[in-house]
Amino acid sequence: MKVQKVLVAGAGQMGAGIVQVAVVAGLQATMIDVADEFVAKGMAGIEKQLGRAVDKGRISADKRDAALGRITTGLDVSAGADADLFIEAAPESLVVKRGLLENAAVALRPEAIIATNTSSLSVTTLAGFVARPERFVGIHFFNPVPAMALVEVVRGAATADDTVAAARGFCEAVGKTPITVKDSPGFVVNRILFPMINGAAQALAEGVASAADIDTGLKLGANFPMGPLALADLVGLDTTKAILETLERDLGDAGYRPCPLLGELVAAGKLGRKSGEGFFTY
Ligand code: CAA
Repeated sequence: MKVQKVLVAGAGQMGAGIVQVAVVAGLQATMIDVADEFVAKGMAGIEKQLGRAVDKGRISADKRDAALGRITTGLDVSAGADADLFIEAAPESLVVKRGLLENAAVALRPEAIIATNTSSLSVTTLAGFVARPERFVGIHFFNPVPAMALVEVVRGAATADDTVAAARGFCEAVGKTPITVKDSPGFVVNRILFPMINGAAQALAEGVASAADIDTGLKLGANFPMGPLALADLVGLDTTKAILETLERDLGDAGYRPCPLLGELVAAGKLGRKSGEGFFTY
């Protein structure tokens, strides 16, 4: 199946990013969230990003306008029930995702693909909330979506081969490189990346170096585009902590336990860029 119309639940940084790359690639997209203000914020972010792309000469103003014209918005799945593909990019809460997936499974055509952008929950568990788990798949984008070339296509226990193929085709259509991954904690990238971020937080907590110097160390000493602490701030410290907790619990390995400093920052509401402060101030 070739995806032409996508319905994205969640207008936050991931959801809006997915909508942006879809409409720039010529697909139709519907973006929904629980309140008008979230939808408006997501749309404003897309308009800003595409405005920048025009200023840089990456796309023409006409192409930007056409892309924006392919977006519709709403407050529930009925706003885009004719979609070929539904992607939930809601907060990492099983309860929230369950409600969305159950609604989508009822509202969409039976042949539509239902996907999750989760980074820390089991795709096979989430597939239990839809009537046809063979049509369910993980489509895990990276942050910031427009700038990151990779997508992990995550095969749950019941995911059918043609569902994986359609998900990979969608990723390629929006300009990304998919890798196919078995449903397992942290998939490939986070399983390897987040222990490094945790190590940076632990080094900071032990006073090994300042946050700025730790990040400079990894940028200049390992050629990372940004330091691990700035990256954690970009991802969100709550999400970072949730990913590490999943790795610790599901791999049964205490080596993944989130550094206490991470928990302290989250408890203090310092969630990174989205709250204005994390390891750094924005
Ligand atoms: N939103 C959208 N696009 C953005 C962006 C943002 N927040 N920040 C940068 N970009 C885009 C820019 O528009 C620009 O696009 P063009 O090339 O088309 O002009 C491009 O990214 C490069 O941006 P800049 O030149 O301004 O900045 P840079 O060269 O310093 O790169 C960066 C910025 C792309 C974020 C780079 O620092 C980087 O790659 N950092 C690492 C990001 C990373 O590792 N992400 C993975 C996080 S883990 C994850 O997401 C998994 C999970 O489950 C949590």
